[in-house]
Amino acid sequence: MKLSGRISGVSESATIRLIDISNRLKSEGKNVVNFSFGEPDFDTPSHIVDAAKRAMDAGFTHYLPSGGLPELKEAVARKLKQENNLNLVPDNVVITPGAKYAIYAVINSIIDDGDEVILIDPSWVTYPACVNLAGGKVVWTRFDRIGDAITQKTKLILINSPNNPAGYVLDRKELKMIADLAIDHDITVVSDEIYEKLIYEKKHLSIGSFDGMDERTITINGFSKTYAMTGWRVGYLAAPEEVASAVKRLQQHSTTCATSFAQYGAIEAISGDQSCVEQMVNRFRERRDLIVEGLNEIGIPCQRPAGAFYVFADVGAFGGGERVAEDLLNKAHVIVTPGGAFGPESDSFIRISYATSIDQIRLGLEGMKTCLG
Ligand SMILES: Cc1ncc(COP(=O)(O)O)c(C=O)c1O
Repeated sequence: MKLSGRISGVSESATIRLIDISNRLKSEGKNVVNFSFGEPDFDTPSHIVDAAKRAMDAGFTHYLPSGGLPELKEAVARKLKQENNLNLVPDNVVITPGAKYAIYAVINSIIDDGDEVILIDPSWVTYPACVNLAGGKVVWTRFDRIGDAITQKTKLILINSPNNPAGYVLDRKELKMIADLAIDHDITVVSDEIYEKLIYEKKHLSIGSFDGMDERTITINGFSKTYAMTGWRVGYLAAPEEVASAVKRLQQHSTTCATSFAQYGAIEAISGDQSCVEQMVNRFRERRDLIVEGLNEIGIPCQRPAGAFYVFADVGAFGGGERVAEDLLNKAHVIVTPGGAFGPESDSFIRISYATSIDQIRLGLEGMKTCLG
């Protein structure tokens, strides 16, 4: 059957393809170390699971309003006001089946054919796919060249701090630079803040709180990374009312709503005991330090990333991202993601996710040493 031009142009997600390879190698009895996962390896904290179970037992298993459970929207609006300094009301919030769907829905709600969307290299693999599906044009640039990438057709700049794959965190000066460009050129900013709590050194700032930015910022966030809730599929966006209402309409005719009892779990996540987050962050920090030291010992120079759970390492001296990923897979059964998946200027990098145990990280570093050392 002939597929649409739009879907034909979308390739399989590089990260999801690697999970399939890992499963195949494991089924062949191989000892695989998988550094490609984009999800915490911890279980969802039990108080969150219990809240969802209680909701199910109480019969909250039906459709919800497309914009989300009113109590959850209120809790999200409260959090965004108090922690992120955003100026909004619950009607600016839409609960979605994951942050990924929020990004998809926002891009489809504001991008017309031929509109340009600026992506900063390196960026998460899903952004260009969403832009292409919406008929927009991806314009890749490096952070220090964003101004040069702006044209009459630029509609959107997409930022992600803490960043997947590089783990960098944008500071006030850097965010101000983007905010000034957005205001001067009348551009909307989509700010994906899904890793905001997984931060080790710097402080997270939301660009939507900068002067003049509340009317032109769409803030994306969710529960997957902070609370180890990837399979629950609950995320959200906060946007000016016309965008929130457009996303709601899109959701009415696509997913209807995010899963009802998962939204009850999300209320507990956002308003319950937060010590589980601190515990996870501490464990991620320990793993990050181990992996950065290990890589530097092997001779792969890399900085200590300030956030998320990825190290983006330049392996140009070892033959580049594709070649190294292939060698590590075949010779050491260590799975990493080639950097080219994250942007055209990131070919010489590999992304290593440290969302795995200390033992697995030690084993993986051993394999890498044998292969590249
Ligand atoms: C930058 C970024 N945004 C969004 C997501 C998706 O989050 P969710 O599970 O809420 O759809 C991911 C997941 O890997 C991500 O890395």
